[in-house]
Amino acid sequence: MKITSVKGFHDVLPDESIRWTWMEQQARQLFARYNFSEIRIPVVERTELFARSIGETTDIVEKEMYTFDDRDGSSLTLRPEGTASIVRAYVEHALHTREPVSKLFYLGPMFRRERPQKGRLREFSQIGVEVIGRDDAAIDAEVLLLLHDLLQALEIRGPQIELNSLGDTTCRPAYRAALLAFGEAHRAGLCENCTRRLERNPLRLLDCKDPDCRATTASAPVMLDHLCAPCRAHFDAVQAALAREGIRPRLNPRMVRGLDYYVRTAFEVVAEGLGAQNAVGGGGRYDGLVKALGGPDTPGIGFALGVERLVLAMADHAAVQPLAPEVFLAPLGAAAEAEAMHLAHRWRRDGVRVEMPAGGKSLKSQMRLADKAGARYVLILGEDELAAQALTVRDMAAKRDFTRAVDVSSAGRALLDALTQLSHQPVEQRA
Ligand code: HAM
Repeated sequence: MKITSVKGFHDVLPDESIRWTWMEQQARQLFARYNFSEIRIPVVERTELFARSIGETTDIVEKEMYTFDDRDGSSLTLRPEGTASIVRAYVEHALHTREPVSKLFYLGPMFRRERPQKGRLREFSQIGVEVIGRDDAAIDAEVLLLLHDLLQALEIRGPQIELNSLGDTTCRPAYRAALLAFGEAHRAGLCENCTRRLERNPLRLLDCKDPDCRATTASAPVMLDHLCAPCRAHFDAVQAALAREGIRPRLNPRMVRGLDYYVRTAFEVVAEGLGAQNAVGGGGRYDGLVKALGGPDTPGIGFALGVERLVLAMADHAAVQPLAPEVFLAPLGAAAEAEAMHLAHRWRRDGVRVEMPAGGKSLKSQMRLADKAGARYVLILGEDELAAQALTVRDMAAKRDFTRAVDVSSAGRALLDALTQLSHQPVEQRA
C-alpha cells in the first residue's frame, strides 16, 4: 500500500518551488535594503511560550497547536507562528545589550491544526519581519512601507492593506468593557463560539465569520472611537507618514487579529485570487510582549506573510525564470559517454549548468530531452568527434548546427563564452 502525505501537510514540487525560491530572493533583497538581518529560530518551543504570548483564549492556543509531551514529560509545541520565538530569542540572548534596535526577518514553516482548504494548511510557510526597540509612529510607517514594497516586488494581484488601532493598556480596558456590555445585551443573537468566549475575549466578536453573529454585532462599538489621546495621535501619525509616501491603507475598525499580543497599530493584507482565505499577511505592534516573556519593557512591531497564499495571489506573468541548463551534453557510444562524464564534471566545477542524460540513447531522443530541458546548446560527442577532439554544437535558439573544435582542456566558462560568440556570428564564418 502506498503511503501518502498527512492531511494539511503538502509537497512543493519543482514547478512550484521555483516560485518560492524567487519570492525568497526578492524578499531577501528588499530586507537587505531596509537593513534587516536574518534570524533562524527552532521549530519546537516550550508550549508555555505560546500560551503566554499568543493568548490562552485564542483559536491557535485553544485548539490548533501541535502539542506533545517530550520523553522527560515537558510539554513541547510545533511553532504556530514566529513572533513569540523571536521575542523569546531576543530576551534569551539579551539582544538589547548588543544593539539599540533589532531589525530581524525570518522564513520558515509554521504549524496550525486548522481545517484544510484552499490557502489553509496545517503546515504553511511564513516570511516575516520584527522590529524590537522602537515605539514611534515612524517605525510603524516604515514597516508598512516595507510591506507595501514587498507586495509589489512579489507581483501580488490587487493587494490591499487594512489598518486599525487596537488601543493600549490605557484605553482598551474601557473599550473592552463597552464591547462586553454590548455582547451581553445582544447575547441571544451571538453564535455559540462567541457566547462561550464573550467574557474571556470579547474583541473576537468583531471578526466572527458567522453571518447571523455578524449582523448582531454590526452596530457594536469599535476601538477607533475609544482611543485615548496618545493612541489617537500615534494612529494619525502613522497614517500621515504613509500618506506622504502616497499610501493610504483602508481603515478596518472591525479587524482585531487572531493573536492577543497586539496593541495600537494592527494590519492585514488581503489580495485577489484567494477565495475565503484572502489574508496573505498580517501584523502589528506588540509593546508588552518582550516584558511578558521576561525581558525589559521594550516595544515591538512586525508582520508575517503566508507563502502558500502569496503563490496563489502572484500574477501569472511574475518574472519567475527557471534556471535551464546552459549546456546539454549528448554522447553517442560508450567511449563518448565516459568522456562526457569527465567533461560535464569539469564544466560543472567551473560554474556551467550542464545536463547529461542516461547512456545508450539515440541522438534523436537526446535532442528531444535537450529541448524539454530548455538547454541553450547541445554538444554532440560521437565517435568522430571524439577522434577529432571536436564537438558538434547545436544552437537550440538558432536551430542550427555547427562543428567546432573544442580543446577539451579549456575551462567550461571559456567554452560557453566561445559558443555564445560563435552563435552571434553569421553561419558562413563558423568553422
Ligand atoms: P497571522 O495573521 O496569524 O499572524 O499569520 C500571518 C499569515 O500567515 C496569514 O495572513 C496567512 O497568510 C498565513 N497563515 C496563517 N495561518 C495559515 C494556514 N493555516 N495556512 C496557510 N497560511 C496561513 C502571525 O502569525 C503573526 N506572527 C504576524 C506578526 C509578526 N505579528 C507581528 N509580527
